[in-house]
Amino acid sequence: MTATIIDGKAFAAKVRAQVAEHVARLREEQGVQPGLAVVLVGEDPASQVYVASKGKQTVEVGMASFEHKLPADTSEEVLLNLIRQLNADPNVHGILVQLPLPGHLNSELVINSIDPAKDVDGFHISNVGLLGTGQKSMVPCTPLGCLMMLRDHHGSLAGMNAVVVGRSNIVGKPMAQLLLGDSCTVTIAHSRTRDLPSVCRGADILVAAVGRPEMIKGDWVKPGATVIDVGINRIERDGKTRLVGDVDFAAAATVAGAITPVPGGVGPMTIACLLANTLTACCRALA
Ligand code: GUN
Repeated sequence: MTATIIDGKAFAAKVRAQVAEHVARLREEQGVQPGLAVVLVGEDPASQVYVASKGKQTVEVGMASFEHKLPADTSEEVLLNLIRQLNADPNVHGILVQLPLPGHLNSELVINSIDPAKDVDGFHISNVGLLGTGQKSMVPCTPLGCLMMLRDHHGSLAGMNAVVVGRSNIVGKPMAQLLLGDSCTVTIAHSRTRDLPSVCRGADILVAAVGRPEMIKGDWVKPGATVIDVGINRIERDGKTRLVGDVDFAAAATVAGAITPVPGGVGPMTIACLLANTLTACCRALA
């Protein structure tokens, strides 16, 4: 069997086009331009690439982009003051503080100082609680992108066995909540799970979010299953730097029914969902 490739790049372009259309209408009819503020503390090279990409795509869909780059030794007080200003700024509808923050800053305190209505990452404790209780919230972008691809591929997910490998607050836990919300039977597996291969083999939907290159092997995948690979790992192979996921793609693609590639799968959907969340935050502020 050869799996259907779920094209996240094309799907993300479609989402961005829909967002751009809605933004154009808001600007024309209500004179409102949604705005996204991204805060980057320090000079982590990967974070700089992500932030630049977010800023570029924000502008491309017609939104205002506010970038705040602060030095690595920024004090908590200065950062919290900036967030207070952004919370109060009516032109800013979404606020994202790029993680990881330098070690001297308390990430939980910083994230929880963002106005939950502007928390387009969905990391604020209020949004986590709302999601966990099935209420209207801001939903973390990466799991939201995964859910959109799964719904697009399957229609209803009700009754399916979903296994999420990874228990991070950013991906694993919210992914499990979303799948539960769509009536899947959900297992969260992790580094201490006993016999992980056999747990994975029980999955109709297998979401890999562990951050370990190609850890999930082809024979861990149930024939016909849908595999969503959240991993973005840089490895050296044949003298070149390559991006690979958490799944051994070549092997899994011979067994799975459908699979997301890396790159071009989940990655592009994350930023598209960030833009969609910013639009949602703006529309809720207007309502
Ligand atoms: N760093 C890696 N992924 C993310 C994300 O989704 N949001 C933020 N704020 N930082 C990140």
